[in-house]
Amino acid sequence: MEQDASHPPNDYDLSTAISSTSGLRQGLTSYGDAHFSLFLRKVFVKALGYSEDALSRPIIGIINTYSGFNPCHGNVPQLIEAAKRGIQFNGGLAVEFPTISVHESFSHPTSMFLRNLMSMDTEEMIRAQPLDACVMIGGCDKTVPAQLMGGISANKPVLPLITGPMMPGSHRGQRIGACTDCRNNWASFRAGEIDIEEISAINEELAPTIGTCGVMGTASTMACITAALGMMPLRGASAPAVSSARARVAEETGANAIIAARNKWKPQDILSKESFLNAITVLQAIGGSTNAVVHLMAIANRNPKTQGVITLQTFEEVGRKTPLLVDLKPSGDNYMTDFHNAGGMLALLHTLRPLLHLSAKTITGQTLGDILDSSPFREFPLSRRIIRPLSDPLYPGSSLVVLSGNIAPNGAVMKASASKDRALLSHTGPAVVFEDSADLAKRIDDPNLEVTANSVLVLKGIGPIGNPGMPEAGLLPIPRKLASAGVKDILRISDGRMSGTAGGTIILHISPESALPESPFGIVQTGDLITCDVEKRKLSLDISNEELGSRIEARKAVFAREAKPKRRGYRGLYERAVNQAQDGADFDFLAANGGSSN
Ligand code: FES
Repeated sequence: MEQDASHPPNDYDLSTAISSTSGLRQGLTSYGDAHFSLFLRKVFVKALGYSEDALSRPIIGIINTYSGFNPCHGNVPQLIEAAKRGIQFNGGLAVEFPTISVHESFSHPTSMFLRNLMSMDTEEMIRAQPLDACVMIGGCDKTVPAQLMGGISANKPVLPLITGPMMPGSHRGQRIGACTDCRNNWASFRAGEIDIEEISAINEELAPTIGTCGVMGTASTMACITAALGMMPLRGASAPAVSSARARVAEETGANAIIAARNKWKPQDILSKESFLNAITVLQAIGGSTNAVVHLMAIANRNPKTQGVITLQTFEEVGRKTPLLVDLKPSGDNYMTDFHNAGGMLALLHTLRPLLHLSAKTITGQTLGDILDSSPFREFPLSRRIIRPLSDPLYPGSSLVVLSGNIAPNGAVMKASASKDRALLSHTGPAVVFEDSADLAKRIDDPNLEVTANSVLVLKGIGPIGNPGMPEAGLLPIPRKLASAGVKDILRISDGRMSGTAGGTIILHISPESALPESPFGIVQTGDLITCDVEKRKLSLDISNEELGSRIEARKAVFAREAKPKRRGYRGLYERAVNQAQDGADFDFLAANGGSSN
């Protein structure tokens, strides 16, 4: 056997126990003989050409989520190369490995259905393999939450590296970009305002480069939140996917991984209540996606320190103190490239400084306050147009609100700042109920549908269990007869989610969802009066408690008679284990306490 004299292999000295928790010696495969396990591991890793010197370095994993079905991750190969530079210039050994990759438009029934699976893949592969730290490359909506959830549960040093937003496109001299403009233009097409040639031309320009959606949708929201949690460089939230800045963030992440590995900075030690309060402050200030509420609950519940400490009520409390400052679609007018050029997260956090918990730790070993102190930001006119000062916000407070009432005893969420008709924020109207997505598709454009602009559209059956993955179907289309009469917004309610790029007066995540027999939301009938009062944070069905109770009992009896057989496979696991939106729609057994109610 060839030997490197400078690194004599003592791993096979049978008189010495193998007890290391780092490098190649950690997490040995179980053969009942640790020395043989290490011997065999080295046999196989040497097939890849590694020397003893290389194998003696800190091993930094890089999760490769490149996929031909994920254009939001189209730059992953370049990011891997740049991250490897950062790792290897600083004395580590970079080893890339795959996990599943999930894109919004290529995931049936929904990407959210696969988020928990991706988090399990991420957690178990980080835990199973001999890594001292791990760079997790994600970007598209569900990938970053999945990686944070899995990384926190694995609890080895993890460093998110985000693919970054796409550039905006152009149509007839106007900037357009996925995906707020996808939805606006599609609504115009449905209303007959633009023709088939124009919608086809728009389709060519909405995603002109690789990268994540270029507005403050879920992907951009999660990127900003990840930076606010202290888990990645601030520029990493907004540098465009195709920019040289993005590659430099990747190199910096690789270098940071070596420091985190040497210091064993684990996510459960870094992330505290204060980290999450900062993240929620940023979420409110950027007018972020409602999906982020579900994701942040799932992420917080993976950490024993924050499970049960961060709740839906926390979003409400932070929201009341935090104005909307960032003028990006869908709440405002601009794109992620504008946010980046205006100073991005560094400018935003300097602006939000009085509202932040500056002692929160970050993955660099510095506190958030240290980072802001060492990176002063000088304002310029563009920055103040895109990132407003606290004294001149875009929306005074609570971009995202948490509502509750007799049909949502465990809560519901609304992005009030994205309402297109603010009068609907205080509204009473008769319900027009659709029992599920198929019922909606069949009847929404029926000319005989009894609906007016005063109606409240209700869609059931799209909660975590009801339509696995809680699809982004909460943006119910405006019935064609109303749309062509010029109605731009209508109050809509569901137990599902909505794309972060969408807007309108829309109440989401109703809990408990209608698929549960005891759900009060499940008993809403067409013609019932529903009141939404955002000021009072109330959502209620105007019927008596007795009527509500007797409808629920009658519905439970129907469920008992029509019990469905258990499904097999991942879908069966999903239906049995997923928890409700207010807990993050995670699997109960993956939460920090394993789903125990104690
Ligand atoms: Fe991937 Fe929008 S589809 S971020």
